[in-house]
Formats: sequence, structure tokens, C-alpha cells
Amino acid sequence: MIRARITGTGSYMPENIRTNFDIEKMVDTTNDWIVARTGINERRIAAEGEYTSDMATRAAERALEMAGISASEIDLIVLGTITGDYPWPATACIVQNNLAANNAHAYDISAACSGFVYALGCASDFLQAGRGKKALVIGAETLSRIVDWTDRNTCVLFGDGAGAVVLETTEESDFGILSSHMHSDGSYLDLLYQPGFGTRMTPSAENIDNRSAYLKMQGNEVFKVAVRSLTDVSLEALEANGMSASDVSLFIPHQANKRILEATAKRIKLDDDQVYINVHKYGNTSGATIPVAMDEANRAGMLKSGDIVLLSAFGGGFTWGSTLIRW
Ligand code: UT7
Repeated sequence: MIRARITGTGSYMPENIRTNFDIEKMVDTTNDWIVARTGINERRIAAEGEYTSDMATRAAERALEMAGISASEIDLIVLGTITGDYPWPATACIVQNNLAANNAHAYDISAACSGFVYALGCASDFLQAGRGKKALVIGAETLSRIVDWTDRNTCVLFGDGAGAVVLETTEESDFGILSSHMHSDGSYLDLLYQPGFGTRMTPSAENIDNRSAYLKMQGNEVFKVAVRSLTDVSLEALEANGMSASDVSLFIPHQANKRILEATAKRIKLDDDQVYINVHKYGNTSGATIPVAMDEANRAGMLKSGDIVLLSAFGGGFTWGSTLIRW
């Protein structure tokens, strides 16, 4: 049986750090509130002139370098993002051009914070179906440009960054991506979305001035559904593979809020040392959180051959999903 295996990881975080103390000067909030309610200390902000495609390209280059392959060998590039360089064409095509990955086809996936898990599922299915041998899967976001920096309910949470993995087919069927599970429920649209600019809310100075175009979230409502969905989809992955929480070497959840991660881990019955958390450093980078965390854990030597790695994500749509990997 053919499976898709991760052979390289890479990430790129912008240099500019925005701390909670910086945000104290922008809106009516405190470092203590942000730390207590979210676990976030600081986040990265893309430099002027730095775009999602730039960060995605840097992360992809690092993943390719680790895998020891050249961009021309890549058959497919899938990029999970809700903050692409343009409404269209796909930012994945810009990355393809930057990398000179001339033998790949490339597209974006819009699944908000679940974008990377969705992209990984699509790329894995593509390789398993025998349609190609190598794929790049990326999560990259510049959320700082769609966040309303006058809205304390949302601006404290988000940051920018990118992560990427190289996927290659393997005949060793015990290794690689064991399963992907994806779900969505469009009835929750109003709890988390960006009204502008699309074809419903077209660009106007008024929509910018009154802030109606920016990211909107009803955080406490999202929180409840997030914990429930992340728990369910994580258990779904374990059950589908005849495993339980004790089999998990490392749980790498979408990094939205430390309280969400801790509540989810507790419900799945995972110990603290089974859970990877870096939300304190980067905040919520939507589709980028999981590949960035995976790259950090990998480069720190925390992912060893044969380890069971569980990824779970939840985001706007609502969308949610999980991936179970034997590393
Ligand atoms: O990536 C996936 C999608 N996003 C998420 O998963 C985020 C999910 N939600 C959350 O992380 C949390 O709901 C938040 C961190 C956004 C908010 O925490 P909360 O414990 O749910 O607080 P809350 O929204 O219920 O607000 C509690 C209070 C309110 O004041 P009142 O009405 O009780 O007087 C807010 O106005 O906290 C106030 N508040 C703030 N105070 C200081 C909201 N934001 C802030 C702030 N600083 N930044």
C-alpha cells in the first residue's frame, strides 16, 4: 500500500515581535488579561513589503532543504491560507513561481485555521492515489493585515507566519499519514468571518473607516464549539486507527488559545508532556500554527521514526479536521 510520508519540515516567522505590552498601548487591554485568557505573550508581525507568498516560500525552501530534494521534483503544491497575496490567483501559484517548481500544479485551500490539515489531507490522498510522488503542503498567513487593531476582542490573538512540509510516497505502509478526517458546518458563519472584501461587501472607503471589512469573531461562542470539535475529531482519528490516547507520542493542535488546548487535551486524556504548545510565542497564526509547531518539534528532535503524531485543527467556516501520522 502506498502512503504519503513527511520527509522535510520548514517554517518562517517574521522578525518583528509585537508583545502584549505593545498592544496595551493600542487598545484597552492588559498583559495580565491576555496571558490569563489566552496564554499568549507575543506574536510576529510581517514587515512592510513582506507578504504571505514570501513567508510561504521561505518555509517551503527550508522543508525542501531538509528533504534533500529540488523544487522541480514537486508534483503538487497545496497552500492553506485565508490571507493570500490577492483574492486570486492562488498564492500557491506565486510560491510555485518563486521556487521554480515548474512541474507542479498549485492551488490554495480556504479552510481558515483548518487550512493546513485540509491541505495535508488533499495532498496525501493525491499521492496515495498514485497521481504523483512528491508534494509541498504549506500553511501561511498574514493575519495582521485583516485584523482590526482597534478591536481588543480579536487583535490580541493573531499573528503572522508560515510552515511547510514535503510529502513523499513510501511503500512502507506502516509509516506516514495513517488517516485524515475533515468536517465543516456552514451554519456558524457569523461567529467567525471576514465580511470584506468579497462580492457581498465590495471595497469602499466607508467599509474600511467603520471597520466592517475586518475579521469578526464572537470568541466565547467559538471557544465552546472549538473544544468540542477538536476533542471529537481527535478521538475520531484514534478510533479509526484502533489507538487510544496513550499511543500518542505528540499531539500538535491548532494553536488558538492555551485554554482551548488544555481543555481539549484533558478531554482526550493526554498528559501535558504529550502536547506541543507554542501559542505563547506566536499567538494564533491560523493555517500556519500546525506546520510551524511541527517544524519546531521536529528540529528539536521531538519527532522520532515510528512516533504517533496527532494533528487537530478548528477554524472559521466552521471547519475542523485531524491527521494521524506514524512519523
Ligand atoms: O482559531 C480558531 C478561532 N478562534 C478561537 O479559537 C478563539 C476562541 N476564543 C477565545 O480564545 C476566547 O473566547 C477569547 C480569548 C477571545 C476571549 O476570552 P473569554 O474568556 O471568552 O472572554 P469573553 O469574550 O467572554 O469576554 C470577557 C470579558 C468581557 O468583558 P465583560 O463583558 O465581562 O465586561 C470582554 O469585553 O473580557 C473583555 N475583554 C477584554 N478585556 C481586556 C475582551 N477582550 C479583552 C481584552 N482585554 N483584550
